[in-house]
Amino acid sequence: MSNKPLLDVMHGQRPERIPVWFMRQAGRYLPEYREIRAAKGDFLSMVYDPQTACEITMQPIRRFGMDGAILFSDILVIPEALGQKVTFEPGSGPKLDPIEKPMDVLRLNFSNFKDTLSPIYETIHCVRNALKTEGHDKTTLIGFAGGPWTLACYMLEGQGGKDFLKARTYPYKHDESFYNLIDMLVDATSEYLIQQVSAGAEVLQIFESWAGALEAHQFKRWVIEPTQRIIERVKSVHPHIKFIGFPKGAGYNMLQYSHSANIDAIAIDYQTQTNWAARVFQPQMPVQGNLDPACLLAGGDALLLAVERILADLGNGPFIFNLGHGIDKTTPIEHVEQAVQMIRERAI
Ligand code: CP3
Repeated sequence: MSNKPLLDVMHGQRPERIPVWFMRQAGRYLPEYREIRAAKGDFLSMVYDPQTACEITMQPIRRFGMDGAILFSDILVIPEALGQKVTFEPGSGPKLDPIEKPMDVLRLNFSNFKDTLSPIYETIHCVRNALKTEGHDKTTLIGFAGGPWTLACYMLEGQGGKDFLKARTYPYKHDESFYNLIDMLVDATSEYLIQQVSAGAEVLQIFESWAGALEAHQFKRWVIEPTQRIIERVKSVHPHIKFIGFPKGAGYNMLQYSHSANIDAIAIDYQTQTNWAARVFQPQMPVQGNLDPACLLAGGDALLLAVERILADLGNGPFIFNLGHGIDKTTPIEHVEQAVQMIRERAI
């Protein structure tokens, strides 16, 4: 036993209480985040400044006593570290110089990879230290990366989207080039996660936010197989590290993902039925999820009811309470406090 509820669940042990953290818990719904953001201006320069990134990672821990501290960074640091230009314009999300053709894939390279990402490893050192000195010794530090497919979506589209038609078309037209892109992302992500664990990350999550865009065979090829390879590579260096996989929107494909992607726990989106997830996944692995961020935003009786229902369905097996996607930036802080308090009061 580590005495850290989240880490204990991931290692198949019974925790002293149900652990809770929220995806995107460090961010714009917190006034203390908005204050730093206004002072620093640019999002990526905060990510690459270890003192600032450490401070932002700690903010929700200090406020809510979350069981998981998620590293403050972004999935798009990987495309940037491979030489693709990434910017975050306030209010409009990320923008990248999109990959249009096989030649553009060939231009990606590792020459600045280490230098670009090294401040992030320093943030991890800083957070482990802050957790200890500030007395949050039950909080687990979670490192993360985007899944290769999700990264490829942004790299090909140049921005977020709804159906990712450009990204979905590319592998049908340029199979070898797309394989090479995914292969490079597998190498990059494996190295990045290995270094995160060496620096002090205790659990890793893979955000496959656009898993839901893929047809089933493509899902196997571009989500399951690359994830398998990343996890195998990281575990060959750090055999004890545990992975949470979040194949958002994957629906029925979640079944194959849970069996074949080498993950240790599955994060479920808010569309997933909790009693089904309890039956199908919990006998094999812990489940994380899945409060609807809209319900957290709304608050009131709807929130109390939803938290109760999730705890009733999933709280008797290995479980980490979380949202079914990232917290919305207009969420009132009191709703987060109320939800965390309810989960804390639940006897195990
Ligand atoms: O608390 C945390 O989870 C902090 C770390 C974190 C961020 N992004 C910070 C962030 C994590 C784990 C991410 C993951 C991420 N980033 C994903 C996967 C999860 C998901 O939401 O599906 C994706 C797809 C991205 C890419 C990305 N980054 C988008 C689409 C955006 C713009 C959307 C938005 O919310 O504005 C970002 C920006 C971003 N990443 C912000 C934060 C706090 C907002 C930046 C700001 O202050 O303006």
